[in-house]
Amino acid sequence: MSGREIKLQVPTYSKEEVATVNEILASTMVVMGQKTREFQHAWSNWQNANYSTMVNSGSSANLLIANLLLSKRGQYCLNKGDEVLIPAVTWSTTLFPFVQLGLKPVLVDVSPTSFNISIESCQKALTSKTRAVFAVHLLGNPANMDELVKFCNEHNLVLLEDCCEATGAMWDNKRVGNFGEASAFSFMFAHHMSTIEGGMICCRDKQDDIVLKASRAHGWIREMDEESQKEIKAQHDFDDYRFMFWDMGFNVRPTEISAVFGLEQLKRIEDFIKIRINNFLRYYEKFSKLDSEIQVQELEDTNKAFRSNFSFGIVLKRAGIRKKFIQHLKENGIDSRLLVAGNLARHPFYNHYCAPPTVSLQNADKIHENGLYLPNHQAMTPDDVDYIYSVVRNFFYE
Ligand SMILES: Cc1ncc(COP(=O)(O)O)c(C=O)c1O
Repeated sequence: MSGREIKLQVPTYSKEEVATVNEILASTMVVMGQKTREFQHAWSNWQNANYSTMVNSGSSANLLIANLLLSKRGQYCLNKGDEVLIPAVTWSTTLFPFVQLGLKPVLVDVSPTSFNISIESCQKALTSKTRAVFAVHLLGNPANMDELVKFCNEHNLVLLEDCCEATGAMWDNKRVGNFGEASAFSFMFAHHMSTIEGGMICCRDKQDDIVLKASRAHGWIREMDEESQKEIKAQHDFDDYRFMFWDMGFNVRPTEISAVFGLEQLKRIEDFIKIRINNFLRYYEKFSKLDSEIQVQELEDTNKAFRSNFSFGIVLKRAGIRKKFIQHLKENGIDSRLLVAGNLARHPFYNHYCAPPTVSLQNADKIHENGLYLPNHQAMTPDDVDYIYSVVRNFFYE
C-alpha cells in the first residue's frame, strides 16, 4: 500500500458556494423560485438550449422526459406499451421511468469501442411499435448523432438524450442535448458540476416546455411562461388558477439552495471540464501502451466527437481477471467501479419488470463482465493519472 488514495469522487465546491447557500438560507426564500429561474436561464445560455427546467435529480429529469412522451397535453401522445430503444449499458434510471409509466423499454447493444448505443442493433430491434430512442452519451463520450438523427428521421421516432454523464460534450461543434427533442442532465455530487443533488431537462419546443414545467410540480401552470399561462387561463374558468391541475404531474422540484449552488458552479464549469479533458488525454496516451490488455473507450468519430470525460472507461481484454484487477487497484489506494451499470438486462430487477431482450447484447455482456471505470474528477492531476497508470502496468507486467 503506497498511502496514496485516489477516490472516484470528491467534493468540488468552495467558500463561494457556502456563502451563497448561507445567504439564501438567511433570506428564508428556500423553496423553488427566482433563483431556480435564474439558474435555468443561465444554463440555457451556456448549453445553447431553448428551454430548461431544473429538477431535483437526473433521474427525475428522465422521469419527466418519459412522462412527456405520454402526456395528453403534449405533442407525442404515446400509448402504454409503445416501445423505446435504450442502450443496455447505462444507469438504472435511464430505463426505470419508462417501465414505471407503462412504456416498453427495448434494450439494444452498444458499440464494442465507444460503448455507446449501436445503430445496427437499433435497426434489428425496430418493430411497428417503436416510437422513440433514448440515446446516452456514456461517460461523456458523445453518441453518433449523425446516425441517430438520420435513423430517427427515417423511422419517425422521437429522439431523446440522456446527457447525465456528458455536460460539455459536443458533436460537430454542437453541445449534446441539443439534438433530440428533450435531454436530461445530472448535477449529482460526482458529476461535471454539482448542485449537491439536481438535474435539468432541456427541450427545444415551447409545448414540451410547458408540459415539463407542469409535470415538475403537481400539474400546475404557475411556472410556465406568461403567455402560455394566459392562454390556458382563457380556456378554463377557475376561481384560483394557482391550484388548478392542468396536467398530471409529480413533485420533483429543486430547492433554491440547489439553484444558487448551481449558479456558482456554472461560473467554473469550463475550468472543471478542462481539467477532466486534460486528465483524460493523459490517461489515453498512457493506456495506449497497454492496448494488448485493455480496450479504452474510443470516440465514434475523431473529427466530430468532442469528449467531456466523466470517468475513464476500460474493458479488460482477458476474461476472468477483473476481481483481481480491482483488488490490486484497491491495495494501491485507487477506487474503481463497474462500467456504469454493465448490462442492465443482467441485473436482478430486470426479469421482474421487463421483457427478455429481443436482440443480442453481446458487447454489453463483455462490458458487464470485464468493464470498469477509473477516477477522473476536477481535483485530480496528471500526476495522479501517471500513478494510476503505473499501478495498472504493474498488474500486467510485474
Ligand atoms: C446515464 C445516467 N443517467 C441518469 C443518471 C441519474 O442521475 P442522478 O444521480 O442525478 O439521479 C445517472 C447518474 O449518474 C447517469 O449516469
